[in-house]
This record gives sequence, C-alpha cells and structure tokens, in this order.
Amino acid sequence: MTMAEAVDQNRTAKEAAPQVVLSARGLRRDFAGFVAVKNVDLDVEHARIHALIGPNGAGKTTVFNLLTKFLQPTSGTITFLGTDITNMAPAKVAQMGLVRSFQISAIFPHLSVLDNVRVALQRPQGLGYQFWLPLRSLDRLNRRAEELLESVGLARERHKLAADLSYGRKRVLEIATTLALDPKVLLLDEPMAGMGHEDVGTVSEIIRGVARDRAVLMVEHNLKVVADLCDTITVLQRGEIIAQGDYATVSKNEQVKIAYMGTGDE
Ligand SMILES: Nc1ncnc2c1ncn2[C@@H]1O[C@H](COP(=O)(O)OP(=O)(O)OP(=O)(O)O)[C@@H](O)[C@H]1O
Ligand SMILES: [Mg+2]
Repeated sequence: MTMAEAVDQNRTAKEAAPQVVLSARGLRRDFAGFVAVKNVDLDVEHARIHALIGPNGAGKTTVFNLLTKFLQPTSGTITFLGTDITNMAPAKVAQMGLVRSFQISAIFPHLSVLDNVRVALQRPQGLGYQFWLPLRSLDRLNRRAEELLESVGLARERHKLAADLSYGRKRVLEIATTLALDPKVLLLDEPMAGMGHEDVGTVSEIIRGVARDRAVLMVEHNLKVVADLCDTITVLQRGEIIAQGDYATVSKNEQVKIAYMGTGDE
C-alpha cells in the first residue's frame, strides 16, 4: 500500500465511522402552548465542531438548555455516550462530561485568573472548601491549572484579577474554567459575541484545539467563523431544522437563503 492509499483508507475509515457522542431524537419543547423547539434530530460527533445557527428566536438556546437538561423536553429523547439522559438532572449530566459554557458572571471577578481555574478544577473532584488537602494534591492541581492557562494563552495574565481582563480574555478564561471539568462535549453559546477581530481569531484557535479530543457544539452568529471553523452546521428556524450538513451544502439551501436574507422570519 502506498502512503497516499494508507492516508485515504484512514480517512475513509474515519468518515465511515463517525463517533456520535450526543444525540437528540424528536426533541420538542412547548412554553404555555407556544412550540419553541420541535422535531429536532441532532448528532454531535467526537472531534468535530458542530454549529447551531438560525435567526433570532429560532430556538438555539432552548436546544442547548434541553441538551444540558437545564430545561426538560416536552417530548423526545437525548442520548449521551450511549446513556439515555432524557430524565437526568443537569448536575449529573455535567458530571458525565456534557458541559456548557457559563455566562461571564460565572467568573469570580475578585479572584486572580489562576485562582479562577483552580476553583474550577476543584469542582469535579468534589474538593471544594477542603483547604486541609494534602499539599501534594494541591501541587497537582496547580500544575494542571498552569497547563490549562498555557493552553488557552492566558499564562502571562495568571496573577491578574479576572475583573481586570479585557472582555475577550474574560471569555477565554470562561472557556478555560469549563475545560477544567474535562468535558466530552462542550457546548458554547455565542462564544465570540461582542469580541473584536483579534479575539475572534484567538478563540477560534482555542476551540479548534479543544475539539481535537472532544466534541464541540456551538451557537454562532458570525457566518465567517462558522464557515472557517465548523464541520457540521444545523440551521434552525422557528424551532425546526431546515438544513443540516457542511457549510457548502447548507449555504446553497433555498430555505436557508430566505431565512438569512430576512424575507422569511425576520
Ligand atoms: N422560558 C421561556 N418561556 C417562554 N418562551 C420562551 C422561553 N424561552 C424561550 N422562549 C421562546 O422560544 C423561542 C426560542 O428562543 P431561544 O432563546 O431558544 O432562541 P435563540 O435561537 O437562542 O435566539 P437568539 O438568537 O436571540 O439567542 C423564542 O420565541 C422565545 O421567546
Ligand atoms: Mg440564544
């Protein structure tokens, strides 16, 4: 077998066997008679970046809340790593590795960057408030915190107060604290919102790195970011999926064009 054939075979094997880590079937959520999400089938794959896009009010955040169990679906099922999590509590689901980014307010502004990550690292191990921990486990924690900060490019700002970071860097710190939970699937709701051009580039790189060994599902309004970064795109409109596939496929779809030209929903 030539090198090219081997590469080809490897690629084919990868494409033939996508590893679905999170899936939804027939997901629906009503709010007092209003159907916010319906008939949503979704497969999120390991080592892939999956975008959820659509006009304002399409149901993107509701889908996130359903998947992470912050909201209970009216009907439908959610499977995570082969387990039916439809009726599981959000904390349990997070513990299993289905983690969403928290809002910026989840960062402790008066703690240093490093301490924010250390606090996040203590959470999954249930070590919160155990300040009598043996020094060695603290050492391990500190090393892991430094590694995480290094991996997101925040190492040089480790001793700054979180409050003193720029807006973009705060979002990066927020991502670092979610990575501390060692997620299998990371859900990011508009991670680039309100960011300048430079921070968008940095965060794109971080997300790419994150997705090397986990799945990422993200809501993103910036279509250039979606085109550059995402392997699979799901387009929602009025709570329903109108298109799904890679960027080339989805952007050719007539319904998507109408939705994005504003002659449809908006
Ligand atoms: N708790 C709720 N009670 C009633 N209606 C809700 C609730 N949450 C969401 N909705 C409605 O469901 C629809 C979908 O909202 P959702 O926030 O999921 O949209 P979105 O796609 O995230 O929009 P955006 O791009 O503005 O963030 C909207 O019409 C919204 O008003
Ligand atoms: Mg939203």
